Amino acid sequence: MKTALDFPVTKTQNSKLATTDFSNLVFGKTISDHMFVADYKNGEWTDLRIEPYAPLSLNPANATLHYGQSIFEGMKAYKNEEDEVIVFRGDANWKRLNESAERMCMPQIPQEIFMDGLMTLLDLDRDWVPTAKGSSLYVRPYMFATDDYIGVKPSETFKFIIFTCPVGNYYSKPVSVKVETKYTRAVAGGTGAAKTAGNYAASLYPALQAQKAGYDQLLWTDGKSHTLIEESGTMNVMFKIDGKLITAPTNTGTILKGITRDSVIQLAKDWDEPLEERFLAVSELETALKSGTLEEAFGTGTAATIAHIERININGTDYILPEKDADSFSYRVLSELDGIKYGEIEDTHNWVVKI
Ligand code: COI
Repeated sequence: MKTALDFPVTKTQNSKLATTDFSNLVFGKTISDHMFVADYKNGEWTDLRIEPYAPLSLNPANATLHYGQSIFEGMKAYKNEEDEVIVFRGDANWKRLNESAERMCMPQIPQEIFMDGLMTLLDLDRDWVPTAKGSSLYVRPYMFATDDYIGVKPSETFKFIIFTCPVGNYYSKPVSVKVETKYTRAVAGGTGAAKTAGNYAASLYPALQAQKAGYDQLLWTDGKSHTLIEESGTMNVMFKIDGKLITAPTNTGTILKGITRDSVIQLAKDWDEPLEERFLAVSELETALKSGTLEEAFGTGTAATIAHIERININGTDYILPEKDADSFSYRVLSELDGIKYGEIEDTHNWVVKI
């Protein structure tokens, strides 16, 4: 494939393709053959290249290992009937990566480097894009500091890498979640809106406690009063109460600006679904669960896609949600998004690019 930027491509001599079991994909375990790499030094991105996926060598004083200057994205590619690779909303991921970079004192990635690296990599590893419904090629662009220096200051050198993994569903069944009122994921003025490693590291301990108690994930509440629902561990979250969709706004700096969230909001608007971008109080959620006005609750995320929620724990009480059918909003929106991503439904919002 011809792109505007010209950079070397070194192909692997040991492809893992033939020995990969595509019928048994565990999320994030299988990595494709190649990666795109660029290095930042002296104020510019240099040494763009594609090479075989391989371990990196790092100095023990590497700044990322100590102070966590690391950001990432998650996006997905699909295959249509014509064997074309379809990338969903890559431009939105590029923009969000740069927003995270700004917050974390890291350099901007020019659109051309991100897109040409991505497209060349996907073209080269196109046989890694799974074809079975529900599966896709998960794409992980990320950037991290490479200075070898243990004083606390922003690094001056960085690495940008894109690698890919063929994946099945992140959640293979509806999830159960626990409303978290003790631990905090993000506070105003913090890094909650950035897709940065530390947010995920800080979430591991509370999420593990919830998992030990039998829940798949947490529903994070605001860090100040713990009374308002913000997002879930690996996804944004939406509720349908009394016919209205409700999801937390993203202007507080505490919530990730999910691209699936944005796509679902756009489809809800296209379909004239009543929608409120506002905080849902935990008490309001509890009242809706008790009175039966909570019709649906679901997570939205690149990895999770649309994850139906079947059980919610609030202050020690479990509430079971009603089972949903194909007419419910979350199922309709999942099938519409799948249709667009697999190239079966017209892409009226210019969300996909074909290779
Ligand atoms: C994604 O949905 O792409 C995510 O980043 C969530 C997760 C796998 C960390």
